[in-house]
This record gives sequence, structure tokens and C-alpha cells, in this order.
Amino acid sequence: MSRVSVRRLYSVAGGRWWDPFRVVWEFCTSQQAIRDLESLFRRYVSAQTRVLDLGCGTGANLGRLIQLQLPFKQYTGVDFSPHMLALARKRFRDMANVTFMEGDATSLRQSDELYDVIAATWLLDHLDEPAAFVNDVQRLLVPGGHLLLLFYSRPRWFVRFWLAPLGRMLVRADPVAREEVSKFSGVLFKKTRAASAVTLIDIGAPGVVDPGAARQACYH
Ligand SMILES: C[S@@+](CC[C@H](N)C(=O)[O-])C[C@H]1O[C@@H](n2cnc3c(N)ncnc32)[C@H](O)[C@@H]1O
Repeated sequence: MSRVSVRRLYSVAGGRWWDPFRVVWEFCTSQQAIRDLESLFRRYVSAQTRVLDLGCGTGANLGRLIQLQLPFKQYTGVDFSPHMLALARKRFRDMANVTFMEGDATSLRQSDELYDVIAATWLLDHLDEPAAFVNDVQRLLVPGGHLLLLFYSRPRWFVRFWLAPLGRMLVRADPVAREEVSKFSGVLFKKTRAASAVTLIDIGAPGVVDPGAARQACYH
């Protein structure tokens, strides 16, 4: 999907269409996946945690942290849509430890900054090379850090035949193919739901593999 068309999509109505759309989409397809994501946030986010949210949009994940009453050291949201960032800044103004930055999540400059938790929700389905992105972004994790991914994945045929053209046309999203997902390195936990249309993945920083802990995080 071309970046220009995705960027243009999030300028429609100043990006204000996304949140109502997200609420309906998540209600219909992702309630359990969101609960699992929240369990992972509860497990991994503490007062010392630096969070990076890629393709942060209007700040849904920051909203989750606040709603869950999870303290964190620093939250940085990155998005290439100035419209989505404007909505996020308006919603979360006056928070000292929160920064929103305009940038392309697929070409983040080499930086000294490392993060304990990196989240990317509903971003991968907009990218041409999700596996390359997922494997590259892990370099920004501290040892023991986690990359949490929630995305639209290839549904089963009886959903795919109507959802795939609709998703492409309406929200410029293509389901992430299973072959791409199989190239993700460091996967600790993976769960697909809604006839495989929704996938949640927890990836550990290189060299740290604790599948038991991640699995447990989703079931308490
Ligand atoms: C479907 S919205 C998800 C927003 C948010 N993560 C959420 O869960 O509500 C996708 C967001 O990713 C952003 N985006 C898409 N491709 C991007 C890229 N290559 N770099 C940065 N942001 C990107 C869009 O501008 C949009 O705000």
C-alpha cells in the first residue's frame, strides 16, 4: 500500500473518522485481543518504563495506559500523519512525560534512545514489508524489552473474500500474510482471533526468550 495514499487517508476529515471506526472494528473483532494486549501492558509497564508507540494515531495506546492506571516513565508516539498527531496532542496536552513526533515508522533514524516497550497497533497492515519492519525495530528495545503488535491478519476464506477488498478500499489496509508473520523473529506469544483476521504478538528483545511468562501474561 503506498505511503502517500495511507497518509492521505488519515488526513480525511482531519483524521477524525479513525476513532469511531476503531471503536466499531475493535468491538466487532478484537475485544479479547484488546484484553490480552492490556494484560501485556499490565505485565510490562511500570514507573520506569519507556514506551514507544509506532503509528500512534490519536494515541489509543496512551489512552489504554492511562485507563489501566499504569504509571510510566516516558511515552513517545510516532506517526507520519500531522492530522492524527494534532488530535493526539489535543487529547493528551499538558502531560510532561508524553511526546508526539512526526516521522515514518519504517525509517526511524539510528538513535541512542532505547525503549522497554514498543507498541504498534493496526500499523503493520499498512506496510509493504511488515517482517522487515518488525525485525528491524527490535534494535530499539532494551534487553528484556517487548515489542507488542496488534494487526489485521489474513482471515479465513469465508471472511477474506469480502473483508479483503473492503479493507483495501476503505482503510488502505492489506491483511498481513502468514508467510510474513512466519518471518518475525523473537516471537514469545501469538494469538489469532476473529476467523484469523486479528493477530496479537509479543516479541522479546533479541536474546531473551521467556515464552512461559508471556503466555501467562495473557491469561491472568
Ligand atoms: C490504523 S491507525 C492506528 C492508530 C493507533 N495505533 C491505534 O491503534 O488507534 C494507523 C496509523 O498509522 C499511521 N501510519 C501508517 N503508516 C505509517 C508509517 N509508515 N509511519 C508512521 N505512521 C504510519 C497512520 O498515519 C495512522 O495514524
